[in-house]
Amino acid sequence: MKSIHSKTVWLSIWGVLIFATMLFASCEGPAGKDGLAGKDGKDGKDGADGTQNCGTCHDASTDLFAKQLQWAASDHATNTSFERSGASCAACHTSDGFREVAVTGESNTAAAISNPTGQNCRTCHTIHETYTNDDYKLTYEKKAKLRTTGVEFDFGKGSLCAQCHQARTTTPALDLNAETYTLANFRFGPHYGAAANVIAGSGAFELAGSLPYANTGAHQNIQNSCVSCHMGTAYGNQAGGHTMKMKYSYNSAMVDNVAVCTPCHSSAKDFNISGYQSEMKDLATLVRKRLLELDMITPTDGVDTDPVNYNHDYAKVGTYPSKRAAALYNYIFIMRDKSWGIHNPRYTKAVLQNALEALN
Ligand code: HEC
Ligand code: HEC
Ligand code: HEC
Ligand code: HEC
Ligand code: HEC
Ligand code: HEC
Repeated sequence: MKSIHSKTVWLSIWGVLIFATMLFASCEGPAGKDGLAGKDGKDGKDGADGTQNCGTCHDASTDLFAKQLQWAASDHATNTSFERSGASCAACHTSDGFREVAVTGESNTAAAISNPTGQNCRTCHTIHETYTNDDYKLTYEKKAKLRTTGVEFDFGKGSLCAQCHQARTTTPALDLNAETYTLANFRFGPHYGAAANVIAGSGAFELAGSLPYANTGAHQNIQNSCVSCHMGTAYGNQAGGHTMKMKYSYNSAMVDNVAVCTPCHSSAKDFNISGYQSEMKDLATLVRKRLLELDMITPTDGVDTDPVNYNHDYAKVGTYPSKRAAALYNYIFIMRDKSWGIHNPRYTKAVLQNALEALN
């Protein structure tokens, strides 16, 4: 314990020292508006020295450092994929691409990004633009626009997240009215993150079945959506805050961060409220069993694995009845959402149940 403590103290001291050196030895800061004084103190009518504002953020407090520690432990920092910087990938896989399309409103960047940077503070905040607290303004503040359906949905501050965590279009397009669909690429499906679509209840093929495609409105309406659940009070650098993680390790067991649920579900002990996640896993297992029987998927991690690995299943290239191909899409769509119903309980159940029926 003792050594961990002193290590942290030293880290912080070094952080402060390094910044102090940078500020005083090399940085002059931006020229102020109105011809502010430079370091030599000459002229400048009603301004302050350019370095003055730096302390708004780079000061002796650990406010900024705490966020850096949290973010550094996030999947955004540790599982980076910013080498995916081609024009059709960069909008979500590079910081530069995200900032570009936040302005242009396009799905793709105009060109591949050279010298790409991965996600960092500047992806989501307008850092070093005004050198005031306004620099923590979010870089995307409009409604999120879903690529596959064109639906615009207001996730509050979470709209920023939803611009990336959403389905991509599948080619060739799947027409439910056609008799068959030729599945040409094993990557068939919504890509890897369908969370925003599931929350908005928009993006699965609405196959006929016994359940209506209803939504859990209470979850859709949570203020700031993603941000409220994924960025709750930080638990060290393991969950909440800028880690954006929902689970943490406690006495060597993984624990669900239910603090973000208990304001509404007061007796929740884990995310599996009323056994709902278990029910979704069982339902997904039935759909998967049927897809295996029909030889429509390649189970990358073996056949009888833990449902948490189902998101690695890939489609098998072939020609299928359109309804079955759509059911396969819907299965992959829910598996890549990875919340086992929590993002939108009622919608998730309807998508899986009706997919199962469409495969029979
Ligand atoms: C609104 C808060 C804020 C203000 C004001 C601010 N900074 Fe920063 N600064 C940041 C953040 C956030 C980062 C990025 C930290 C990271 O990447 O982990 C940063 C990073 C830096 C870095 C590291 C290199 C880099 O660019 O990422 C330097 C050097 C720096 N700031 C100097 C300054 C100076 C000099 C000033 C005043 C002219 C200043 N900052 C004002 C928030 C601020
Ligand atoms: C610029 C696009 C982008 C934005 C904006 C973004 N993410 Fe991500 N997110 C990703 C990518 C890509 C990954 C996969 C890891 C990587 O490559 O960085 C990821 C990973 C994650 C993961 C871990 C996924 C897993 O499988 O364990 C979570 C949770 C997450 N993001 C939540 C959020 C939240 C919450 C926000 C908004 C506050 C957000 N993301 C904003 C692109 C983005
Ligand atoms: C609409 C945003 C978006 C676009 C465009 C996009 N991706 Fe992604 N991609 C994501 C997100 C979000 C994740 C992480 C999801 C998660 O982990 O839950 C991801 C994950 C991945 C992964 C990691 C899968 C894994 O299991 O770790 C790969 C590889 C990938 N994308 C490749 C690409 C390529 C190549 C392109 C361009 C052809 C591309 N992506 C375009 C949003 C996007
Ligand atoms: C994926 C997007 C994303 C990234 C990357 C990100 N942030 Fe944030 N940050 C947010 C969101 C969203 C909020 C608002 C959280 C809230 O309202 O609870 C926020 C809030 C903050 C705040 C509080 C701002 C205020 O107005 O009080 C600070 C400080 C901050 N972030 C610093 C950082 C630093 C430093 C980094 C880089 C290490 C960083 N952020 C990276 C999304 C991000
Ligand atoms: C009602 C709270 C809630 C909201 C709102 C929410 N999430 Fe989640 N999300 C969860 C929970 C809980 C899990 C984890 C379920 C599990 O692992 O058992 C999860 C899982 C995820 C995952 C898979 C990786 C992980 O952390 O397990 C991603 C990625 C994700 N959410 C992104 C988002 C995005 C993007 C938004 C907004 C568009 C969002 N979430 C909104 C609660 C929420
Ligand atoms: C703003 C309040 C609110 C928050 C926060 C919230 N929920 Fe809910 N949740 C509800 C309401 C209300 C319902 C019932 C909606 C209905 O019956 O259509 C519900 C339904 C559910 C269901 C469906 C099963 C059931 O009992 O009806 C599950 C599972 C669930 N929530 C889990 C979670 C988890 C896990 C979290 C935290 C990650 C969470 N919720 C956060 C309000 C909330």
